[in-house]
Amino acid sequence: MSLLCHHPGRVVLRLLLLLFAACRGDPTGDTYDTSVCGPRVSATCGGVIFRYPFYLTNATKALPEYANSSFCGYPGLGILCNGSKAVLWLGNDDYVVSRIDYTGTTVSLTDADVVGSSCPIVSHNVTIPQRSSLRLANTVGNLLFFFSCAFGPPPGDGAAPKPPRPPSIKPLTCGSFDQGPRSSFLLPPVDVPSGEWSRGCEAIFSVPVLGDSLPVNAKDSAWTNGGYAEPLRKGFQVSWERSSGSGRCGRCEQTSGNCGFNQDGQFLGCFCANGLMDSDGCSKISDSTLRLASKPLIILIKSL
Ligand SMILES: *[C@@H]1O[C@H](CO)[C@@H](O)[C@H](O)[C@H]1NC(C)=O
Ligand SMILES: *[C@@H]1O[C@H](CO)[C@@H](O)[C@H](O)[C@H]1NC(C)=O
Ligand SMILES: *[C@@H]1O[C@H](CO)[C@@H](O)[C@H](O)[C@H]1NC(C)=O
Ligand SMILES: *[C@@H]1O[C@H](CO)[C@@H](O)[C@H](O)[C@H]1NC(C)=O
Repeated sequence: MSLLCHHPGRVVLRLLLLLFAACRGDPTGDTYDTSVCGPRVSATCGGVIFRYPFYLTNATKALPEYANSSFCGYPGLGILCNGSKAVLWLGNDDYVVSRIDYTGTTVSLTDADVVGSSCPIVSHNVTIPQRSSLRLANTVGNLLFFFSCAFGPPPGDGAAPKPPRPPSIKPLTCGSFDQGPRSSFLLPPVDVPSGEWSRGCEAIFSVPVLGDSLPVNAKDSAWTNGGYAEPLRKGFQVSWERSSGSGRCGRCEQTSGNCGFNQDGQFLGCFCANGLMDSDGCSKISDSTLRLASKPLIILIKSL
């Protein structure tokens, strides 16, 4: 109780803060499972090491009271370890994580639909959710996938409802692309003909690839007959932004804690190495005996 005697004002203030925290459902003072979340945890899946700010999606169980709605890492960086594949979701789509550069803060991803396919079909745009900490990295180049395009008859056969196929582009020819009257194309933006030609396509998708994987010649049969699959399998990179130093997460990280977030992407609390949650960074309260003294009080308040 020497703390109380020497700093009575500060102690009362801190108690009030803790009580306030307890009343609004703040996890401060709660214990969590340090084998699942927190500064000491890392996991390997699909040959990639995952540690903060990434977390395994099943790790939400670390803080029982907030199960299903808390994350022990940055929003959007949850990893589902499915067998030997590490899957990250962007929107509703699965991407396989092949590499993480923790220093450069980039993640290498491959569309799960493309993995293992020699003649892949792109079926969605990349959707980076707003709440996610991820952004397309500046190493990314872009291709455009024109899926299942129909073209009208050549000029002269009466009124053509659809424009003819521009002579400057060549359709994909491998796998199922070689069947039927419709054609699909994978083109760098510079090769996309201007005009109305793509009106008859069923869908158009933007396909991020590494900047150095763009084709030299998208008309080359080596590209159209399956060569295009290689850049797709190599995938692309997204980067994440470190928390800013001044916010609550920044303070948490500066005191060697890991930030937890809720489903809305808001900071929930700091996972401290000592196994306690704290909404205000790790070192200050956690090494004082005050925490232990105040815990029963919080439980009392919560049960009222
Ligand atoms: C989460 O999943 C990984 C990989 O499947 C497994 O090793 C780990 O034990 C799981 N953790 C929890 C808390 O279920
Ligand atoms: C979390 O979700 C599981 C399964 O959906 C449910 O059984 C459990 O009650 C939920 N826990 C909380 C704390 O909401
Ligand atoms: C895990 O992978 C298998 C085979 O790739 C797939 O069928 C299954 O849907 C995946 N599970 C989840 C939860 O994504
Ligand atoms: C995908 O993105 C491209 C380029 O931004 C856009 O033209 C196209 O309409 C999008 N496709 C879908 C299905 O949203």
